[in-house]
Amino acid sequence: MSAHSQHNLPPSLTGKGATLALDGHDLVRMTEEHGSPLFVFSERRLRGNARALRDAAKGGHARARIFFASKACSNLHVIKALREEGLNIEVNSGGELWKALSAGFAPGEIVFNGVAKSVPEIELALGHGIQSINVDSAFELSRIAQVAAGMGKRARVTLRLVPGIGGGATAGIQTGSEKSKFGMGQAELKEALATAKANAAHLDVAGMHLHIGSQVLDLPDFLESVRFTAEQAKAIGGELGKPLQHLNLGGGYPINYVHHNPGANAGREFDYTPYTATQSAAAMLGEVAGAAAKALGPDAEIFFEPGRAVVADCALLLSRIENVKRRGALQWLFLDAGYNLLIDAAAVRWYYHMVNASRIDAAPDTEFRMVGPLCDSADCYFDVEGEYLWADLQATLTGVAGVTPEILAALKAKVVRLPETRSLPAATGPGDTIALLDTGAYTLEEMFQYCGRQRAKAVMIGTDDRIVTLRDRDRPEDLLDAAERQGIVRTVAAE
Ligand SMILES: Cc1ncc(COP(=O)(O)O)c(C=O)c1O
Repeated sequence: MSAHSQHNLPPSLTGKGATLALDGHDLVRMTEEHGSPLFVFSERRLRGNARALRDAAKGGHARARIFFASKACSNLHVIKALREEGLNIEVNSGGELWKALSAGFAPGEIVFNGVAKSVPEIELALGHGIQSINVDSAFELSRIAQVAAGMGKRARVTLRLVPGIGGGATAGIQTGSEKSKFGMGQAELKEALATAKANAAHLDVAGMHLHIGSQVLDLPDFLESVRFTAEQAKAIGGELGKPLQHLNLGGGYPINYVHHNPGANAGREFDYTPYTATQSAAAMLGEVAGAAAKALGPDAEIFFEPGRAVVADCALLLSRIENVKRRGALQWLFLDAGYNLLIDAAAVRWYYHMVNASRIDAAPDTEFRMVGPLCDSADCYFDVEGEYLWADLQATLTGVAGVTPEILAALKAKVVRLPETRSLPAATGPGDTIALLDTGAYTLEEMFQYCGRQRAKAVMIGTDDRIVTLRDRDRPEDLLDAAERQGIVRTVAAE
């Protein structure tokens, strides 16, 4: 039976006999060679995504530019490839700015976001003369004016506003409403414009910015942000007596994390909607760029800041099953990768689809509880908090007048945010390699060493089919920092 008849996989993932292959490379063999856990990126997919988004943006608006949100993945090999494809870059700290410059981005290709920029970070940005600093508050604008004055410079800035649009698949990744910590509301904007006018020698307000969230599923939310931008840009331009030079519409374009064949999960009470894009990111971004051309005209540049849509589906994480246990009717399988490598699985209860890369020819017909190797119960691929809360709610609500089974089922689907089990072949067990799909965004830079676990190796299958190491697995000595190493470490290997 083929991999594609069992799972809804992209064409880059195929079955090679019993095992899963990416761009034709046997993934189980790759873990034998490079160890587990292992991130594997596809350079073909990475460059393909970059080109698709860039072309869609340009197709919609001749002066559109893509600034890759490097928080999604700031690995130097990755961002260099994106630069070669004509993408610019968005950074969120002095560290990311330093990485962007190290990868060869010109200052004019860099925008700097962030809610808590320090004076040294502002000095770094002004010293290099980057495209723009996206300003998050009136206070920050005064700070930038002060730093620029001290350096004898005029800072090019972009005002980040609160559009009041609740884009973003889950609360933790919604960034466009008054409830989030980002940007300026109307009262604060007034204050910022007064500061800009009073400090015109050191501040050049060149644009406005918004970013409504991540994994934004609905095109109307993006279109609403274009409408808001048109209205605000006109008002700000009027106030300052000159039109804005660029309008930054942010990122947030979604990808599809769900790879079941239709009907495979029939009868399971779980809402996959937040993880399911119904339209490709490029198609969506193209429509938004087209709407921007109509609403904002041809003169100002239009900036986009996609992150997830560029890198998420370029990579998968391979993780070996190290242990098995039977609890009640279910088998529990213990992976060597936990939230130390995929923090979003625990922090925002993110869904990463799993397939058994060692048995891709077998039907995923059996349900397993999947957990990681760390020392707490939150290290699992189900929603332990939601299930706990649900048990409480169910006990309280069952039998209450008017609470029907339908209401209970709907409530459960909202409260429990990950499926309780994963479908894998019946023979799945220790020694098998599980592939967690679409793990290229918000992963490599978010790994950590909790429980003395080494951060994983990451490799990329090149367009020439050569394997490039993106980052090495930590060595045991990398578990210590320089201060720990100094003088107090016994050399274990020598004994
Ligand atoms: C200001 C800004 N722009 C762009 C992005 C990228 O979002 P996404 O990866 O969903 O495209 C983020 C993500 O947090 C952001 O905060």
